[in-house]
Amino acid sequence: MDGILSEKFQREGYLVFDDFVSSRQCQALIDRALEITEAHSQEGPISMFTTAEDRRATDEYFMKSGRDISLFFEEEAVDKGGLLGSTSEACNKIGHALHDLDPVFSEFSRASSVREVSRKIGLVDPVLIQSMFIFKNPKVGGRVDWHQDACFLYTDPITVKGFWFALEDADRENGCLWVAPGGHRQGLKRRFIRGEDADTHFVSLDSAPIEVDDPIPLEVPAGTLVVFDGCLPHFSSANRSQRRRCAYTLHMIERSADYPADNWLRPTLDRPWRGF
Ligand code: FE2
Repeated sequence: MDGILSEKFQREGYLVFDDFVSSRQCQALIDRALEITEAHSQEGPISMFTTAEDRRATDEYFMKSGRDISLFFEEEAVDKGGLLGSTSEACNKIGHALHDLDPVFSEFSRASSVREVSRKIGLVDPVLIQSMFIFKNPKVGGRVDWHQDACFLYTDPITVKGFWFALEDADRENGCLWVAPGGHRQGLKRRFIRGEDADTHFVSLDSAPIEVDDPIPLEVPAGTLVVFDGCLPHFSSANRSQRRRCAYTLHMIERSADYPADNWLRPTLDRPWRGF
C-alpha cells in the first residue's frame, strides 16, 4: 500500500487523504484561530501589500511573522478607516509559526498520523518550518496565483512538502485548491529571495513560465488532507461565495538538506525549528 501511495505521489505530485481530520478537530482548530484573531487588537498592525511607503514596515512585519503568530488581512477588507467587519472576517491568514507557538496547533501538527503521512511521502527526518491558518472568507477571500511552494521554501536538494488540511468544505465556488497533476516534474521555476535590508525579490531559475496542463480542482469535504510536492503548481481562486473556506497548512523540509540563508523564512536563536 505504502509503495503504491509513494509511487502515485512521485508520479502525480500530490495525494488526497479522505476523512483525515475529525469534524471535532476541524472545529477545534477553527475555534482556536477565531480566538487568536479576536485577541488581536483592532489597533494592531494591519499588514497587507498596499503602497510603496508601507513596503518597509510590511516587509519587517512579514519577516518577523516567520517565527511569530501574525495576522494578515484581505486587501478588499481594509480601507482608510481600518478593517471592514470583524478582525476574523477581514483576516486573510494567521502565520507562520502556529505549529510551534500555539499549543492547539502544535499538538495537531505533531500528531502521529501526520508523522505517518510524512514518512509515506518520503521524508526521513522532517523539520516543521511553517504553518498558516487560511480563512478564505466569504466575498473577500483573495486569489492566490499559480505557484510552487519550493519557490518560498527552497532547500538543496528540494525537499519541501506541503500539508493542506481542509477544515471546511472546499469547492470551485468558495475557492478550492487547484493542482496541475504531474506538474512538479518540470522543476522549480523561480526563487523568492530575502535581500540584505529585509527586502524581497524573485530570481528566475528557468526562463520558461510554469506550465499548467490540465489543471484539476480539488473539491473536497472538511477533514480532507492534501499533501503535495514543493514543485507542484497550485492555485486558488477568490472566494466570491457566501461560504467561508478555512484551511490549515503546514510545511516540512528534510533536516539533512542545505537551507540557504537568503530564504525569507529563518529560524531564530530563541525560536529554533523542531521536528515531530
Ligand atoms: Fe502554496
